[in-house]
Amino acid sequence: MNTLHSLISLFVFSCFLPLLLSFSPPQTHLPMQCLDDQRAPLLQLQHHLYYDPNFTFSSNFDLWDVNTDCCSWEGVTCDAYGHVVGIDLSYRNLSGSFHSIFNLHRLQRLNLAGNNFNTTLFSYGFHKLKNLTHLNLSSSCFHGQILVEISYLTRLVSLDLSYQDDCFWRNGYGYNSATLKLEKPNFKTFIKNLKFLTELYLDSVDISTQSAKLCETTSLVLSNLRVLSLSNCGLKGPLCSSLSRLSFLSKLILDGNPISYLPPNFLEITSRLVSLCLRNCNLSGHFPTEILLSPKIQSIDISFNHQLMGQLPEFPANNALQSLSLYFTNFSGKLSQSIGNLKFLTDLELHYCNFFGPIPSSIANLSHLVNLYLGGNKLSDSIHSSLFTLPSLKIMDLGENQLVGKIDEFPNASSSSIERLYIGNMLFQ
Ligand SMILES: *[C@@H]1O[C@H](CO)[C@@H](O)[C@H](O)[C@H]1NC(C)=O
Ligand SMILES: *[C@@H]1O[C@H](CO)[C@@H](O)[C@H](O)[C@H]1NC(C)=O
Ligand SMILES: *[C@@H]1O[C@H](CO)[C@@H](O)[C@H](O)[C@H]1NC(C)=O
Ligand SMILES: *[C@@H]1O[C@H](CO)[C@@H](O)[C@H](O)[C@H]1NC(C)=O
Ligand SMILES: *[C@@H]1O[C@H](CO)[C@@H](O)[C@H](O)[C@H]1NC(C)=O
Ligand SMILES: *[C@@H]1O[C@H](CO)[C@@H](O)[C@H](O)[C@H]1NC(C)=O
Ligand SMILES: *[C@@H]1O[C@H](CO)[C@@H](O)[C@H](O)[C@H]1NC(C)=O
Ligand SMILES: *[C@@H]1O[C@H](CO)[C@@H](O)[C@H](O)[C@H]1NC(C)=O
Ligand SMILES: *[C@@H]1O[C@H](CO)[C@@H](O)[C@H](O)[C@H]1NC(C)=O
Repeated sequence: MNTLHSLISLFVFSCFLPLLLSFSPPQTHLPMQCLDDQRAPLLQLQHHLYYDPNFTFSSNFDLWDVNTDCCSWEGVTCDAYGHVVGIDLSYRNLSGSFHSIFNLHRLQRLNLAGNNFNTTLFSYGFHKLKNLTHLNLSSSCFHGQILVEISYLTRLVSLDLSYQDDCFWRNGYGYNSATLKLEKPNFKTFIKNLKFLTELYLDSVDISTQSAKLCETTSLVLSNLRVLSLSNCGLKGPLCSSLSRLSFLSKLILDGNPISYLPPNFLEITSRLVSLCLRNCNLSGHFPTEILLSPKIQSIDISFNHQLMGQLPEFPANNALQSLSLYFTNFSGKLSQSIGNLKFLTDLELHYCNFFGPIPSSIANLSHLVNLYLGGNKLSDSIHSSLFTLPSLKIMDLGENQLVGKIDEFPNASSSSIERLYIGNMLFQ
């Protein structure tokens, strides 16, 4: 009886399922069905792009099914009237020409990041996309001068032209000096109309010739800026104190520029930040460690400033710090028990500094900690076995210290999440 029953239901189900599927609502696409004048440029785009992994022509780009509504195509977004307002073709190994995009005048968001274009931006009509708010051309092997036409896009909120060189690395070509640069127009001319920008990513763009005035100009013009990311741009310091005028700034990323000197009001500038990266900036002297106590700060990376001095402060219970990297600085002193108050910490990178004394037992309270690097210091005393049972810990580096203890005191491997453990060059028994 039961078998019969299931047979019947199977029959009923298999007969009606196709019906059910064919009756699934087609109406949802109707209001934004693609207009002919939007479809044509997209078809041209598909025709002029090709799939080019590792710069080896492989096949034509045929992501889109020409028999379907172009508003439903992958990476295409339309408004309610069927105008294309967004194109996202990021990380698809594309090369070729994208001229036809500039006939989609309603476009608001364009993302061509992570492709293999290996061309200059000349001959593209960026100024035609007057309504563009988001432009992302990062890591696509573009090179040469950044066009003044992009600076006519006065509605831009987010501009990402960063890391063109990553594209060569990704494709196995290693270092390549062909990257974007900002000389003519100069930086000032380029940004002067981009008043609505909240995010500016120009990492690895060569701005070295504009270095001197860049900081002042940014502070005066881009008053809505939330993210300023200019790693490896060839900027020479010092940073300007007028950065404090950027009252919404929450991420400041300046890695790999020889800034050398911090402005006197650096604490004021950083007090609103969530993220600060000054890795490898030729900083020296005493770092104002009060920044580590700012209630908003979540991530600090000041590593690779080997003459930079400082000591860890006493951490209060209310803090948001998730990542602290002091790797290869001249920070010194003892690690305080109050480190156990950094309850959101996932990454603690204190290796190759001058810290000494015992590892505070309170580290065993950092239940979110994933990466713990303490190697290459002068830490002494024994290791608390509780470190090995931290629930999230994956990498623990304690090597090149003066720690003592017995290896068989470590608890069973099965109760540990650790994937990599460095304990070389120590005084273990
Ligand atoms: C892009 O090409 C690389 C090889 O160069 C390959 O590893 C990757 O999967 C490709 N990505 C896509 C989306 O085809
Ligand atoms: C730009 O957007 C506005 C509305 O935000 C619209 O009125 C105008 O027609 C758009 N311009 C173009 C060229 O699509
Ligand atoms: C990139 O383009 C340049 C010419 O503009 C050419 O010399 C170079 O070989 C190209 N690189 C690759 C990886 O195809
Ligand atoms: C640009 O696009 C890439 C790939 O989608 C993404 O990782 C990156 O965050 C984007 N940049 C911005 C500023 O959104
Ligand atoms: C891409 O091509 C270059 C040069 O032919 C080669 O050295 C490299 O290994 C290739 N990379 C990949 C990911 O295939
Ligand atoms: C690094 O900073 C020092 C001052 O501490 C300065 O004399 C030197 O020129 C800077 N190096 C570079 C490459 O800017
Ligand atoms: C590191 O700091 C110590 C003082 O704590 C100082 O003697 C030493 O010269 C500094 N090293 C460097 C490379 O700045
Ligand atoms: C861990 O945290 C608990 C509760 O906040 C506290 O009582 C305990 O002393 C801490 N343990 C260490 C080793 O700091
Ligand atoms: C380690 O595991 C073995 C076998 O599972 C068990 O007999 C022993 O008691 C464990 N030791 C500790 C310290 O948990």
